[in-house]
Amino acid sequence: MQLEDLIFETGEIALLTLNRPKALNALNRQVVENLARVLRDIRHDHAVRALIVTGAGDRAFVAGADIAAMSEMSAIDGLEFSRLGHRVMQTIEDLPIPVIAAVNGFALGGGLELAMACDLIISSEKARFGQPEINLALIPGFGGTQRLPHRIGHARARELIMIGDMISAKTALEWGLVNKVVAAEQLLPEARNLAAKLVGKSGIALRQAKAALRASFTMEEDAGLRFEQAAFGFAFSSADRIEGTKAFVEKRDPKWQHK
Ligand code: CAA
Repeated sequence: MQLEDLIFETGEIALLTLNRPKALNALNRQVVENLARVLRDIRHDHAVRALIVTGAGDRAFVAGADIAAMSEMSAIDGLEFSRLGHRVMQTIEDLPIPVIAAVNGFALGGGLELAMACDLIISSEKARFGQPEINLALIPGFGGTQRLPHRIGHARARELIMIGDMISAKTALEWGLVNKVVAAEQLLPEARNLAAKLVGKSGIALRQAKAALRASFTMEEDAGLRFEQAAFGFAFSSADRIEGTKAFVEKRDPKWQHK
């Protein structure tokens, strides 16, 4: 599927590329609406078992929301843009499959927010991360004030959001913002390698793990712990659980049915 500004290559491991390299893949309303459309299709396509999100070109993953477009927006337009962005980030978090951000360059503002909506973040050595909205007299608008402290703690999140400086891939790794840093040419191979490992798991169990992990962010601890019990029970009721535990006892590799 080829939408303007987005390239979607389907498959068991699908690849979604933000494709506005001249604007460092900045997110305007049209791109975000197209993202919503593609994500809806992915959600209903059972052949897709993992998704990699990356940016076109060698400079940027996504350098944020489109500042030129925002400079023309009314206050109401801005509010609607934020709501749209939030819906897309939540849709990524709610996808029943694992999503990997392969960050090939700048991941700033809405770009870092997009990466943080993904389950795992693999970074090129050249990548740089930040929430520089404060320098535009703005604040993160696609979930950054909530997801960033959850990922790296309040002290560092306050530093990034209130001072607005960028950090290197090395620092992002030290701060626990990204899972792994690799050479630029290894970024997609490494993301595919990780996706292949995920595809080798029971899709049912992965879906429950993802939902329960999300509950740690969206629910109070007591409700989250109860959510985990229900998710564990759901995984326990699957054919894959019977196969997985049996295969261990019988000292053989499991064969997943993803049900
Ligand atoms: N929106 C629109 N265009 C952007 C952009 C953005 N976020 N980021 C970069 N571009 C454009 C530039 O305007 C430039 O276009 P032209 O060639 O037509 O002039 C092109 O991409 C290349 O950028 P630069 O010439 O600026 O490249 P550089 O190497 O000198 O700097 C950079 C790179 C540091 C990333 C710089 O472009 C920059 O600071 N970009 C803005 C980053 C930012 O503030 N992001 C947050 C946006 S607000 C937001 O995201 C809100 C939210 O949470 C929803």
